Formats: sequence, C-alpha cells, structure tokens
Amino acid sequence: MNSGNLIVIVGPMYSGKTSELISFIEIYSLGKKRYKVFKPILDNRYNDTYIVSHSNTSIKAIPINNSKEILFHIDGDEKAVFIDEIQFLDEYLRETVVELINSGKDVYCAGLDLSYKNNPFKVTSLLMAHADTVIKKKAVCHECGEYKGTISYKIVDNGEEIDVGGFEKYIAVCRDCYSKLKQKKELTEEN
Ligand code: ADP
Ligand code: TMP
Ligand code: MG
Ligand code: ZN
Repeated sequence: MNSGNLIVIVGPMYSGKTSELISFIEIYSLGKKRYKVFKPILDNRYNDTYIVSHSNTSIKAIPINNSKEILFHIDGDEKAVFIDEIQFLDEYLRETVVELINSGKDVYCAGLDLSYKNNPFKVTSLLMAHADTVIKKKAVCHECGEYKGTISYKIVDNGEEIDVGGFEKYIAVCRDCYSKLKQKKELTEEN
C-alpha cells in the first residue's frame, strides 16, 4: 500500500485556512471517498461539532480533547483525515499524523503558524516539517489594506497565548504594521 500525503495549511487568522480545508473536504465528498473531520474541543467559537469559517461556511466535525483520540475514531476505510485548529492540540499529533499517512491516508491539517506574540506554535512547526505540501495563506492587512497579512495581532492583550476568539480580540496584519502597532502600544504603556 502506498503512503498518503500530508498537506498543512497555515497562516494568520482570517487568511482562509478553514475555507481551504473545507474546499479539500468537498473534493473527497464529491468523489464519494470516506473521510473524517476533527477539531479540538477547545475551539467552541461557533459550535462544538462544526468547523466554521469566518465567511460562515461550515462542516460537521468530531470534537476531540487531545490528539490520541483521533486514532480511536479511525476504522481503516477512510481515504482522508482532516483536522482544523491544530495549534490547540498537543505535540503527540505528530506521531498520530505520521501513523495515518504511513497507513495510506491523506491528512489535511489547518492551523496558526504563529501566535499573536510572533512565536511559532510548536505542533504546527512539527507538522510542517513532515508535510508533502505546506500552503501558506495570507490575509488582507487590517491596517494598510495590502494582501500581506502574515501575523495576528491581539487588540485586547491579556497575555494569554491560547485564547479562543475572533474579530473582538484579533486582527490580521502585515509585518510592518505589526511592528508599528507594537511600538505604539509600548509607547502608550510607558506614558
Ligand atoms: P481562517 O481559518 O484562516 O481564520 P477562514 O477560512 O475562517 O480563515 O475565513 C476566511 C474569510 O474571512 C475570508 O474568505 C473573508 O471572507 C473573511 N475575512 C475577514 N477578514 C479578513 C481579512 N483581513 N483578510 C482576508 N479575509 C478576511
Ligand atoms: P482561525 O485561525 O481559524 O481564525 O482561529 C484561530 C483561533 O486561535 C481563534 O480561536 C483565536 C485563537 N488564537 C489563540 O489562541 N492564540 C493566538 O495567539 C492567536 C493569534 C489566535
Ligand atoms: Mg479557521
Ligand atoms: Zn499592513
């Protein structure tokens, strides 16, 4: 049996990661292929059992507490496995995903590469290292309007690097605007 492919979709918030994951799911669905979709339980933004994009497309998913639960749901007949919001999962996801691709399944993972503090999420970095294809998405920068948004900026900074939310907490910006916003914030804090 041939091994499957690993596709990892990364980028800042609003860059279309979930939408792209949903488009891939549709391809398997149209082809009448068997697949399973997972999302961490932590991501309860819209619904516990759906993955939902910021443009409101959605698809049913199995909510999981940790990456080990994924294998319990696999019965062997799936052609593909889809996982959204991988930044919320533990690093054991790497072993789980490698096992899945070695057993012939295609695996599609989507998640943040960087936290709002500009720190890589380790689990995403690990999966990117194993990927056949990494799709790096960009968002429209909230400040300058250019299609260069590579990082999420938190507008209500409470210091938490894991903090579920949307437009009320985060914007997507380009690197230059990120530096400017950070500088402005530091100046305000000094005064
Ligand atoms: P992600 O999972 O990466 O957060 P989604 O697929 O959920 O992205 O949402 C992408 C959608 O978000 C876009 O199709 C667009 O309608 C909307 N959107 C809102 N703000 C932005 C932005 N700054 N840049 C690009 N798309 C945005
Ligand atoms: P999204 O990429 O699909 O928009 O979702 C990202 C989720 O991750 C959202 O619930 C907010 C959360 N998040 C964090 O927990 N920490 C961060 O540093 C950032 C940028 C987002
Ligand atoms: Mg998303
Ligand atoms: Zn910008």
